[in-house]
Amino acid sequence: MLSTEEIKAIDAERAHYPTAQAVGIEAMKIVQHHRGWVSDESLREIAEYLGLSVESLDGAATFYNLIFRRPVGKHVILICDSVSCWIMGYEQLREQLQTELKIGLGETTQDGRFTLLPSCCLGACERAPVMVVDQDLHGDLDSEKIGEILAGYE
Ligand code: FES
Repeated sequence: MLSTEEIKAIDAERAHYPTAQAVGIEAMKIVQHHRGWVSDESLREIAEYLGLSVESLDGAATFYNLIFRRPVGKHVILICDSVSCWIMGYEQLREQLQTELKIGLGETTQDGRFTLLPSCCLGACERAPVMVVDQDLHGDLDSEKIGEILAGYE
């Protein structure tokens, strides 16, 4: 069941959107903020509350890579794999992250500290290669910066 706090936040967002469909992504973000990710059960609760089908909400979540449909670590790293970042060293960056964290793309470290996910363009191509950790954008990445950045997330 959605909590009172979640319902309050969803209702506040509702005022800014013309349809329940449009507020779906915001509702999922709210629930994710409270629960860490959006399980099938959470998705059903949101769909029911907004009067939407579970399928349409799930479809919207698929196209929005910041909705996590599986449990994630304490910090989520999104690594951009679009063109500019590819050209500017995406592969080395990915390899270094995978080596340091000992995980593959889509996986979470054993201690639950980090989840590493691929992402399409993060809108900061001029700073390629780029990754986002939680809400923080890190650009112009090179092998020296990675360790320092990871150390900043407890
Ligand atoms: Fe990586 Fe745009 S291509 S931020």
